[in-house]
Amino acid sequence: MKTRRKFIKESLTLAAASQLPLNLNATNMEKTIEPVVISTWRHGLPANEASWKILDIGGKAIDAVEAGVRVVESDPNTRSVGLGGLPDRDGNVTLDACIMDETSNAGAVCFLQNIENPISVARLVMDKTPHVMLAGEGAFRFAIESGFKKTNLLTEASKKDWKKWTETSDYKPVINIENHDTIGLLALDKNGDLSGACTTSGLAYKMHGRVGDSPIIGAGLFVDNETGAATATGMGELVMKTIGSFLVVELMRQGATPQEACEEAVMRIVKKLDYKDLQVGYLALNKKGEIGAYAVHPGFNYALMKQAENKMYDAISYVKS
Ligand code: GLY
Repeated sequence: MKTRRKFIKESLTLAAASQLPLNLNATNMEKTIEPVVISTWRHGLPANEASWKILDIGGKAIDAVEAGVRVVESDPNTRSVGLGGLPDRDGNVTLDACIMDETSNAGAVCFLQNIENPISVARLVMDKTPHVMLAGEGAFRFAIESGFKKTNLLTEASKKDWKKWTETSDYKPVINIENHDTIGLLALDKNGDLSGACTTSGLAYKMHGRVGDSPIIGAGLFVDNETGAATATGMGELVMKTIGSFLVVELMRQGATPQEACEEAVMRIVKKLDYKDLQVGYLALNKKGEIGAYAVHPGFNYALMKQAENKMYDAISYVKS
């Protein structure tokens, strides 16, 4: 039987001899893999663009996901991620982020303050330390030692909103508040590898020290390069109690489509937890580039970029209106 290597060699010789152009992709021996990038909410549009620049030239998904979410972290007008994020009830902006690559390597930071791009600190935790997660002061020290700059993340606009909130200090999560929540971003590169990133300033006016799902591998994000990747947005407590992103990927491993997997993970919340005033949304992407999106309540939307087209879509939801 002809080995694949022998077949390629013979084909190359034949092409050279006949002066015909040989495109290995065109021989149907190897399918061209179309990159895909998908991310939560409208702030996903510029994130996808930044990721696409890397994916389009054959770059790695892990570099693409980091570059994508950094754009949103550095945008002071996004009030739920990085610079300009709404603070906790004491006026501190505290950040959570994690990242995971195609080799199941993962890095995370939580309760990190005064660093604009927590996702890049998470990437360094993954690449340069034997650990998965650094928290609080330890994460900050690691960031400074790694060359990150100390930055005041509380913008005037966020400070003003927080001051207004302190007039009543009435804590209530709000479903789909404007510019709501986490950016979770998943990418498939031309090599067929998957990676993901997830980053947030968490719930506005949370208790000091509260950490949500976004930096927890398996909750806010999970990637298994054999199967698929998933990310979550919304009320982190519900996602953590059901290990949402891991559940979505595990369901895909058992044969569910990305859409079926997202729907089942939402149903796990609906069956077990009080979801009435709380939103959760999931995104999933499998090895074939198929996607899924589902939420508890209406209003969750996501940005999807493929074949160089970047568009917003409304996710369907368990509660219809
Ligand atoms: N999903 C973000 C958070 O709950 O902090």
